[in-house]
Amino acid sequence: MKMHRLDIDLVEMSLDVVKFAIHRITNARPVLGYPKSEEELRRLVGETITPKGIGGEKAFSLFKEVLMKASVPIDHPRHLAFVPASPTRAAVLFDLVTSAANVHGAFWLEGAGCIFAENQAMEWLVSLTGMPDGAFGVFTSGGTAANLSAMVTAREWWRSKDKEKEHTRGIVIAARTAHSSIKAMAKVIDADVILVDTDGPFLGSQFTDTLESLSPVDRERVFAVIATGGTTNAGIVDDLSGIAAVCESNDIWFHCDAAYGGGALAAPSVRHLFDGIERSDSVTIDPHKWLFSPYDCGAIIYKNPEFARQTHTQEGSYLDIISDEGARGFNPADYQVQLTRRIRGLPLWFSLAMHGTDRYTEAIERGIELAQIAGKLITECEDMELVREPSLSCVLFRRKGWSPSDYRDWTYKNHRRGIALVAPTKWKVGEEFETVTRFCFINPDTTEEDIRIILFTMM
Ligand SMILES: Cc1ncc(COP(=O)(O)O)c(C=O)c1O
Repeated sequence: MKMHRLDIDLVEMSLDVVKFAIHRITNARPVLGYPKSEEELRRLVGETITPKGIGGEKAFSLFKEVLMKASVPIDHPRHLAFVPASPTRAAVLFDLVTSAANVHGAFWLEGAGCIFAENQAMEWLVSLTGMPDGAFGVFTSGGTAANLSAMVTAREWWRSKDKEKEHTRGIVIAARTAHSSIKAMAKVIDADVILVDTDGPFLGSQFTDTLESLSPVDRERVFAVIATGGTTNAGIVDDLSGIAAVCESNDIWFHCDAAYGGGALAAPSVRHLFDGIERSDSVTIDPHKWLFSPYDCGAIIYKNPEFARQTHTQEGSYLDIISDEGARGFNPADYQVQLTRRIRGLPLWFSLAMHGTDRYTEAIERGIELAQIAGKLITECEDMELVREPSLSCVLFRRKGWSPSDYRDWTYKNHRRGIALVAPTKWKVGEEFETVTRFCFINPDTTEEDIRIILFTMM
């Protein structure tokens, strides 16, 4: 097949691709792309999928000249919206290697060597949580898939204790401040969600009150509680010890969603905030957020991985060999919702192996420090005020006198001018939701000057 043949065009193309990758990796301050409308992109790009193909050179040139310029490089040092990312250069390079290696990551039979390496990175993640011996996990496509994998496991564990619950619709309890994926994934598994209203950390006492407010029938339907180890909006770490204690005395599955905040487990300055996470039944951590991995790389860790294995192992006669004695080994597919998977933990493994874990600690501490610096600068500005003290690497603040449309226009204007991407958010004040704005620091290359430049655009 011509498509699979190595020819001179492909060699030239490979050089172009590597050149682009190297340029992108070494350029810490890329252009902050701005979206174009679909019509405009169609006009600029035209039809690319044709019976005979348009050729690699043309397709790649369209990618560089049009498509990439209408996309945001997530690691731009002044991209402080949502949860940005800042993969290490080593991890990005090894992402290319991971693709080129072409190894199937679902089963030990096919991926043993690469899965072994991935698992060494996982051992480090597990050690950060302090979970007991035997705890282990797998890399997933992200926090949503990790939360889903944990919720299905929790639900099956709950049903396994009482066969009568096989068709009972379960209930998950979480705080209002939990990530949107919790509600979305509860929909996927057809569970009800009770959201506890709280502005600060979700407390063990609030969890107890919620349980006590339920009818005996509904109380029996509660199979899991989900606490957050670093809320996405404000970086708040819930009362993990308090919630763990309530779970232990009520035999309820305790899931900690530390998709964003999990990186801070490696930061001594804030590690105490996570005390109690070691008592979780499952923990989500996203290396593609604060552990400098390229997309997409989440992780789910279980205190007792056997529950996950019983829940997620897929069966089929063509898969029988996978569980045969001769092929026995760790099968990542058995512990989460996805079967075929790339070895997405490999870029993290390579970067950790190359740099050592101390460098990770330094880079994460820098994100926390940047949030403190921003907090101080905001406090010094007459026109601005903090909504609350910075927490982890999140800073919520208001520009005095601004309406929601001022924040929105400011976001677009800064983005269009290539200055920064910083977005509005909402914060509950009393019964009302106020529009404010928010920084989330991940990239250790962001400087105090970057923060000053952004604040200056609000004056
Ligand atoms: C706390 C938390 N949980 C889950 C998610 C979802 O993760 P992902 O986007 O990787 O699916 C996020 C994303 O920001 C998050 O912050």
